[in-house]
Amino acid sequence: MIRTENLRKVFPSKKEGSVVALESLNLHCADGAVYALLGPNGAGKTTALRILATLMDPTSGEAYVNELSVRTDKRAIRRLLGVVSYEMGVYERMTPREIGYYFGRLNDLDDRDIARNLAYIFSLLRMEDFADKRTETFSTGMKQKTVIMRALVTNPEILLFDEPTAGLDLITAKSVMDYIRLLKQEGKTILFSTHILWEAEKLADTVGIIHRGRLIAEGSLDELRAQTGHTDIEDVFFSLIDRVEAP
Ligand SMILES: Nc1ncnc2c1ncn2[C@@H]1O[C@H](COP(=O)(O)OP(=O)(O)OP(=O)(O)O)[C@@H](O)[C@H]1O
Ligand SMILES: [Mg+2]
Repeated sequence: MIRTENLRKVFPSKKEGSVVALESLNLHCADGAVYALLGPNGAGKTTALRILATLMDPTSGEAYVNELSVRTDKRAIRRLLGVVSYEMGVYERMTPREIGYYFGRLNDLDDRDIARNLAYIFSLLRMEDFADKRTETFSTGMKQKTVIMRALVTNPEILLFDEPTAGLDLITAKSVMDYIRLLKQEGKTILFSTHILWEAEKLADTVGIIHRGRLIAEGSLDELRAQTGHTDIEDVFFSLIDRVEAP
């Protein structure tokens, strides 16, 4: 389970003194659920995911992954998590398979398990053709698949994806979405951010709408439809945003 309590993050800013990235975020993602954190540019999605991944501390408030605190239990949380972010680089001198072995061994997996996990991931993400090529010449999609492989080689229970399909073509995005669906069937807990409405519609059990650093709605899509009186996800989204923007 993932939950945040009045999570707040303020960044120092030369121009404005400070920027409030998260005002007070309260979200709740149940075990085994796929949770889509949906929100416009600058809403605070990446900030929230980075805090959950223990890559940075909140200014105030708390966040828990399986009841472990992101402030005090960083190492334990990192063992549970696989994190995918488009900001993450790949080691240019290494091949995906070498990166897989490197991260697998770093997490105490034996080589047989790593080989089995990699065979599975390479096949599902259609990486066989470039699994043994150095990543330096890779396209965006090939790099993104490599980043996903790296996060999944250890078979983590909980996955955090920051815009898993950003920059990908339709075919590559679909193979990533299909893979997330499969991970859900395996019982993983998955929290992903997106601003693509249909990705949330297709995959998510729970949708959280984040706007200006606050969660303005959370529930299944059907719950949000009932709450707003709209059926189309775009109408649901805009009516929720309009409500908080109205003076
Ligand atoms: N390191 C930082 N220093 C200063 N301000 C930051 C920093 N990181 C994020 N911000 C600001 O915090 C706010 C939230 O940013 P964040 O990256 O979390 O949004 P996002 O929802 O991920 O947006 P996008 O959809 O564009 O990826 C923005 O106003 C951003 O400019
Ligand atoms: Mg972002």
